[in-house]
Amino acid sequence: MSIRLEVEWKKEKIPGAEELLERAAQMCVRLEGIARPVYAHVLLTDDAVIRTYNRQFRGIDRETDVLSFPSIQCTPQKTLGQCAEKLGREIDETGDAFLGDVVISLQRAQEQSREYGHSLQRELAYLVVHSLFHLMGYDHMNDEDKRRMRIMEEQALNNAGIARVTDDELVEMAKEAMQLSYSPYSHFKVGAALLCKDGKVYKGCNIENASYGATNCAERTALFKAVSEGEREFTAIAVTAEKAMAWPCGICRQALNEFAPDLRVIVAWQDQREEAFLYELLPHGFGPKMGTLEFLGKE
Ligand code: THU
Repeated sequence: MSIRLEVEWKKEKIPGAEELLERAAQMCVRLEGIARPVYAHVLLTDDAVIRTYNRQFRGIDRETDVLSFPSIQCTPQKTLGQCAEKLGREIDETGDAFLGDVVISLQRAQEQSREYGHSLQRELAYLVVHSLFHLMGYDHMNDEDKRRMRIMEEQALNNAGIARVTDDELVEMAKEAMQLSYSPYSHFKVGAALLCKDGKVYKGCNIENASYGATNCAERTALFKAVSEGEREFTAIAVTAEKAMAWPCGICRQALNEFAPDLRVIVAWQDQREEAFLYELLPHGFGPKMGTLEFLGKE
């Protein structure tokens, strides 16, 4: 392990939380490309204590969910992975570099976990991941920085096996989308839910047309909604139809391949579920992410 978390509990420990936090933390430093051993201190406390810290160090007299106190300052626009030599100057007597302190309010984490409908352990993992990226020089002061930080957070959580959106939730969203299907000609309702790398989900249904060829499939509706909102990176799509197990058609495979040949495709029907990677559904696919096709789009 290249990161060690010193976890301090103000009250009794939450079972299973520390292992999850360690795993998520490990993914953060690995993603940032930090090879040197580092450590961070995490205090899990209550609203009253976090409020004191917030007042003392930030002049804000109210409770909050999480506070991060970096020990290493990176130059603006650069993160720790980009100025790794900094770590060398922060080595202490143990030979490890100290990233900084994280303070979390368990009360706030509990409330937020209820609000988002996930476990307290998952919420704590998210807060630690968020904080560690702060300690490594990330911020969310403007949209661009925020997006960069969100992508790293989401990736770290995914890699740690605690994706923000579970497969069950994604399938549920595809089913919701299916209810809105406009299919007066085929009466074949299809719904899709496309998961972006930053955790957002775009839903789509099939939209038919009296001129049949103008019909748009559910998968492409979801994809086009996402791409037209600026999304470019996708990790999974769930597809569900009312009457059969419906794998994406050839055109949708090609459309999705443009952005994510390694997309995980989950197909659900009634209580059955199957999945495959897009590159398995579209072998030898033609697109910009093939390595050999760099000439596409060039003069
Ligand atoms: N359809 C989809 O929405 N996705 C697929 O992958 C297969 C087909 C729709 C298109 C049309 O509205 C209906 O299913 C019947 O072909």
